[in-house]
Amino acid sequence: MSVGVFAGQDPAKRAMVLTALYVAQEQYGYLSAEAIQRVAQRLGMAAGEVYETATFYSMYREEPVGRYVIQVCEGLSCHLADGAERLIGYLQDKLGIAPGETTADGLFSLQAVQCLAACGSSPAMRVNDTLYENLTFDRVDMILDELRRGR
Ligand code: FES
Repeated sequence: MSVGVFAGQDPAKRAMVLTALYVAQEQYGYLSAEAIQRVAQRLGMAAGEVYETATFYSMYREEPVGRYVIQVCEGLSCHLADGAERLIGYLQDKLGIAPGETTADGLFSLQAVQCLAACGSSPAMRVNDTLYENLTFDRVDMILDELRRGR
């Protein structure tokens, strides 16, 4: 099934783009215009096509971010679990930043995102590649402490 931004795109090619974008982001920390251009050149694609793919998925970043990117789910299940707004507010207070911002020490970036595919165990958040479910404020404190200690 091909819809929207991916209409007409070869699934194998799309998979290559996703992988190349992931590798580029791991290497540079985020997907700058230069990184997107490099991916496009490597795969023989238009930069606009690669850019559309990069902006479609929440796992890709277009701006420099902190060492730990905290993505808090504000999807429906997390909202209904009374978690999304409270959790975002709690993290805002703890970190002193709003969604879309990075702490002055460059350690944490906070983002509000849609469903993290953990609806059955909401509220949920993801820190870089690690998913945390059934969150409480105490658990969030423990996670932040671990991250500050470098795990
Ligand atoms: S709505 Fe939060 S994980 Fe799906």
